[in-house]
Amino acid sequence: MITKPKGTYDVLPNESPKWASLENVIRKICKLYNYKEIRTPIFESSEVFHRDQNDTSDMVTKETYDFLDRSERKITLRPEGTAGVARSFIENKLYVENPVSKLFYMGPMFRYERPQKGRNRQFNQFGVEALGSDSPLIDVEVISLGASLIRALGLKDVTVKINSLGDEESRANYKNVLIEHFSKYKEDLCQDCLNRLEKNPLRILDCKVDRDKEFFKTAPKINEYLNEYSKNRFKEVLSSLDDIELKYVVDDNLVRGLDYYSHTVFELEVNIPEFGAQNVIGAGGRYDQLISDLGGPKTPGVGMAFGLERLLLASEYSSKNLVKPEGIMAYFIALGKNAEKEALRLINVCRIGGLSCEMDYLSGGLKSQFKKADKNNARFTFILGDDELNNFKINVKDNLTDEQETISLYDVYTYMINKLNKENNPCSGCNLKKE
Ligand code: HAM
Repeated sequence: MITKPKGTYDVLPNESPKWASLENVIRKICKLYNYKEIRTPIFESSEVFHRDQNDTSDMVTKETYDFLDRSERKITLRPEGTAGVARSFIENKLYVENPVSKLFYMGPMFRYERPQKGRNRQFNQFGVEALGSDSPLIDVEVISLGASLIRALGLKDVTVKINSLGDEESRANYKNVLIEHFSKYKEDLCQDCLNRLEKNPLRILDCKVDRDKEFFKTAPKINEYLNEYSKNRFKEVLSSLDDIELKYVVDDNLVRGLDYYSHTVFELEVNIPEFGAQNVIGAGGRYDQLISDLGGPKTPGVGMAFGLERLLLASEYSSKNLVKPEGIMAYFIALGKNAEKEALRLINVCRIGGLSCEMDYLSGGLKSQFKKADKNNARFTFILGDDELNNFKINVKDNLTDEQETISLYDVYTYMINKLNKENNPCSGCNLKKE
């Protein structure tokens, strides 16, 4: 039997609806934030990802799928979306159309990693990239988009961790003190960190092998080496997050695993024990050099990406079912001849307005009609008797929240529409509230 390659998986027909639902939610959020879809190739010329001999990130040095095609071109399966989007932005001169391009993408990425729960060799990312503005406010927009997605998926216990890596000058100063610090412990550093010491000592802070050693904890922190400009910029990001009441934790150990970041970096972590070390569901940051490093005009950028597999896993643990069972919008329980006639009129109005409705044509009792509402999986149950009818009122039960109220007969349609509009807006009440 031929089996799937290690680190890959099949999405079988019974699982694909939840993927489609997740993608739907993502598209809605992108529309609200006005990010437009971009689709770039799954493979790129290797130089898109292998830009720099000095690159020290695991992703670029150890995890890419590289091969020569039949014409001996060096090709790499994309390990992430940002560099491909940047290549396309430059090649298609998107900067000519708009001073700021707000782009999103979804699709498979490839990394030769050790597979485990939530870590695959082929996995899917949803990512956004905002190119052309260096405003701290757009950093906040990107983080807030991530928070909206978390909220829309009903995920609980998510922490936004944030840090600043400062500008080039700040990082150069910091690198010097890091080299000084870690050089004292050369014999205790792992081989990777010894290489990083020469090329990019910042990445040592991301090491999973040396992380718990004492000399790690005593290493100088970047925030002590940010210059005035970088410090103020970071302050502005944090105060704007406060303004929109988005809760975060400043983590001065956060440096991120990719080499292109400057200033803001952040990660969204779920606190689900089963996730173990793979608890980062989304991450990103600012990258003001990447476009020019790839040969484009100097263009600041900021973005983030989520792992779709991790989002789906997290929503399973949060027991939020992404796929809602099929049902009707409203069931009308009518008690008595006059009420039945009025129910039929109301149903007609609602159906013309696009809402699926049903009523009982067998004049059953209250109990049997409630059962039918249940069987039809009605979102709302309306109950109309003579008393209500005489007062131009109707009782309604929201079967999702179990809330009951009496409303005007004239408001039946708008009542449902208002409720649905609110729910379909993934941003309503979306901020991860400040404690
Ligand atoms: P990243 O942190 O390498 O960032 O990946 C983003 C997310 O992709 C991770 O938080 C995780 O949820 C998911 N992910 C990464 N590797 C795997 C894997 N092997 N299996 C399953 N899920 C995985 C980036 O890729 C940057 N391009 C993000 C970004 C966009 N920065 C700026 N713009």
